[in-house]
Amino acid sequence: MKKILDLITDEMVKAFEAAGYDTKFAKVTLSNRPDLCEYQCNGAMAAAKAYKKAPIMIAKDVVGKLEGNGLFSMADAVNPGFINLNLNPEFLGDYLKEMQADPDLSIEKAKNPKKIIIDYGGPNVAKPLHVGHLRSAIIGESIKRMGRFLGHEMIGDVHLGDWGLQMGLIITELKKRKPDLVYFDENYTGEYPEEAPFTIGELEEIYPTASAYSKEHEDYKEEAMQATYLLQHGHRGYQGILKHILNVSVTDLKRNYENLNVTFDLWKGESDAQPYIPGLVAYLKENGYSYEDQGAIVVDVKEESDTKEVPPCMILKSDGASLYTTTDLATIVQRMEDYHPDEILYVVDKRQEMHFVQVFRCAKKAKLVEEDTKLTFLGFGTMNGKDGKPFKTREGGVMRLEYLLKDIEEEMFRKITENHAIDPEEARATAKLVGLSAIKYGDLSNQASKDYVFDIDRFTSFEGNTGPYILYTIVRIKSILSKYRDQGGTPENAVISQPASDSEKALMLSLSRFNAVCENAFEEIAPHKICSYVYELANNFNSFYHETRILSEENEGQKASWIALLVLTRDVLEKCIDVLGFSAPERM
Ligand code: ARG
Repeated sequence: MKKILDLITDEMVKAFEAAGYDTKFAKVTLSNRPDLCEYQCNGAMAAAKAYKKAPIMIAKDVVGKLEGNGLFSMADAVNPGFINLNLNPEFLGDYLKEMQADPDLSIEKAKNPKKIIIDYGGPNVAKPLHVGHLRSAIIGESIKRMGRFLGHEMIGDVHLGDWGLQMGLIITELKKRKPDLVYFDENYTGEYPEEAPFTIGELEEIYPTASAYSKEHEDYKEEAMQATYLLQHGHRGYQGILKHILNVSVTDLKRNYENLNVTFDLWKGESDAQPYIPGLVAYLKENGYSYEDQGAIVVDVKEESDTKEVPPCMILKSDGASLYTTTDLATIVQRMEDYHPDEILYVVDKRQEMHFVQVFRCAKKAKLVEEDTKLTFLGFGTMNGKDGKPFKTREGGVMRLEYLLKDIEEEMFRKITENHAIDPEEARATAKLVGLSAIKYGDLSNQASKDYVFDIDRFTSFEGNTGPYILYTIVRIKSILSKYRDQGGTPENAVISQPASDSEKALMLSLSRFNAVCENAFEEIAPHKICSYVYELANNFNSFYHETRILSEENEGQKASWIALLVLTRDVLEKCIDVLGFSAPERM
């Protein structure tokens, strides 16, 4: 469906034209004075200069041409030259009626759908998921869902951190503890066991132990580096262990992401890009993109307009080892070969921004991507505790995601069971949904690039700008609809008519902006805009609800129209939270 703002603008364009003014001045925006009007056009102010005429004269000319226009119930020229607009209730009712009948709730699918790879999650194998990875998962998942809803082909890739010293450390520690394992027998040529020589619990303990030990013991670290080298150069036994590490880790990661309602289309990792490195290096050298600097291979990526220094992009260290940068460049090569995307979008901690500036510039300069392939970095800020420092456990350690989720669920369970009797099993399931809404909404309602304070008390509140408040609103609507059903009504058959009160009109105006909000939020990769919209919608619904006796209304036609409005509000709210990555229970 055409956006309501575009329909309004079309009328304004016609009016400017009819009044003899350039249509470029016919821009309409949502009113910034909702107490005065719903939409406004300030074009007469700008036109005044061009036509050397008082703005109010122009505004009056244009308003004259809007007389009798079915879209507006009010079109006023006000000093010094604003045009204030209110929509005709009938027009608004008709727009929503059409929206109600549209399975996509007024959203128009992209005319030129894009293929977008979205690189998010980014967990490191063998290290437990911690809250630092939470934001990437939550924000990335939401952007992926937004894109899909708008008709784009979104390919989510978890991009595991499965390459590098951490693997060597695990192997070294494992060898120290279980030297008799067949993987360490250099003469062994048979098949390796199916079963991993460790559980996820052991694995998660092995890595930090090894990492701490290596910091104190130089020879141990040497050994881990040697093991890493051998692993990366095809050591059979070590590759056997790597396979187990990956399997055990990925199984655990999948379970964790599932609890977050986050899924990936691809479970590729840094290790998958390694085979592309030799070819990449040769290509960069042969085509003169890279040069040797003190034994290292580098590509210059600075640009004249830089205000801060952008160091050369290092491809190989002087000892021939590749780096994080090399892996990301090789991954781009791989993705171009396998998917040929229009865009690759990275949702990563903003502290990695310089890394991505280098990688993107190098990829463009060396033509690893096409001229019009978009490479986008969405850097997110830090999740802080109430003390303003990065979020930690009470003991000061890194908070594991699993425990964080459990804590919130417990808190929600307590709140849900506090005031009324409810089946404990249902309460558990509800606590899970509401808890997830608290975390995700708490995160997504902030602009991604900003740091924010993870405030459990605020996020789990049923009042204010929170996930639980949104769910509570949806549940309230569901409960009215079910009572209507009990009265013998069929909500699905009800049809929206025009608004009968200011609060109803305000709700309808919010609903009518749904398609514009979704499009804009995706364009700006800004899930927080969906959050502000759901919050506005929930508030408008609640005002309407408090003023309106829906179920006891005697005029059945009026009642049905309100019920239809509730159905649409529920559908739009549920679509929004689905895009944000959580869902609502039936009751709570
Ligand atoms: N594993 C990395 C980390 O924990 C994040 C990976 C981000 N994605 C990428 N293509 N570099 O910091």
